[in-house]
Amino acid sequence: MAGHDGCCSSRCHVPFLSLCGCTILLLCRGMIITLCNGKGGSGKTTLSVLLGSALVEAGHKVALLDTDPQHTATRWIEEIGGLELAIPGKGFDGALFIDTAPRLESKEVADSIRRADVVVLVTSPSPADLFTSRDTATLIHREGAKDKAHVLFNQVQPGTILARDLEDMAARIGLPAFKNTLRRRQAYQHAVLMGWKSLGSEAREELFKVALEIVGSVKK
Ligand SMILES: Nc1ncnc2c1ncn2[C@@H]1O[C@H](COP(=O)(O)OP(=O)(O)OP(=O)(O)O)[C@@H](O)[C@H]1O
Ligand SMILES: [Mg+2]
Repeated sequence: MAGHDGCCSSRCHVPFLSLCGCTILLLCRGMIITLCNGKGGSGKTTLSVLLGSALVEAGHKVALLDTDPQHTATRWIEEIGGLELAIPGKGFDGALFIDTAPRLESKEVADSIRRADVVVLVTSPSPADLFTSRDTATLIHREGAKDKAHVLFNQVQPGTILARDLEDMAARIGLPAFKNTLRRRQAYQHAVLMGWKSLGSEAREELFKVALEIVGSVKK
């Protein structure tokens, strides 16, 4: 992993994150990953920080751009560290996660979708989230970003009826879904105060797999 202008260090000891050479090169040149959903509480901030932390753990250069006026991600990172906070308007030669506000009418959300290499529509599997997720997909289509967008199911509870119908829900939203999903785990809530180090191996593995699928989805 070494040798890409110092972006990717050789300390990647994470088997789930064995990225192909092209993807590593893309990461080092700069890759923008925008997390969005007009629905508040779907997990955009939690996953921006934790997926970013997963890539840091794997030895990659990562920053988070917090475009939500509530600045939850900024406060979280200032509290626990581990991630760089990006400076608005400045380029970044690593993986840049953009956390967005739950406001589909916001120009900043539309801009963040347009400039992304990967758009991640974060939603729970609950039908209650379907309508806002669909509105978010409409915005993604309008911004010409549908070919780089996927649904990421968060707060999935395996064995439940809702967990069985993910493909159907993605089809109703109108975008393909990432194969990997994230479970509902208290550990993700604790991580706000305790950071990446507080996560157990199952939670880390789940985050690594999703992070890998996201960065691997960028068209070369
Ligand atoms: N996979 C998960 N398991 C358990 N709790 C989760 C998970 N994902 C998110 N949460 C919890 O759900 C709540 C909302 O998450 P978060 O703040 O990340 O959502 P958001 O989409 O950024 O919300 P907003 O749009 O209001 O900024 C938080 O309490 C968070 O800890
Ligand atoms: Mg948020």
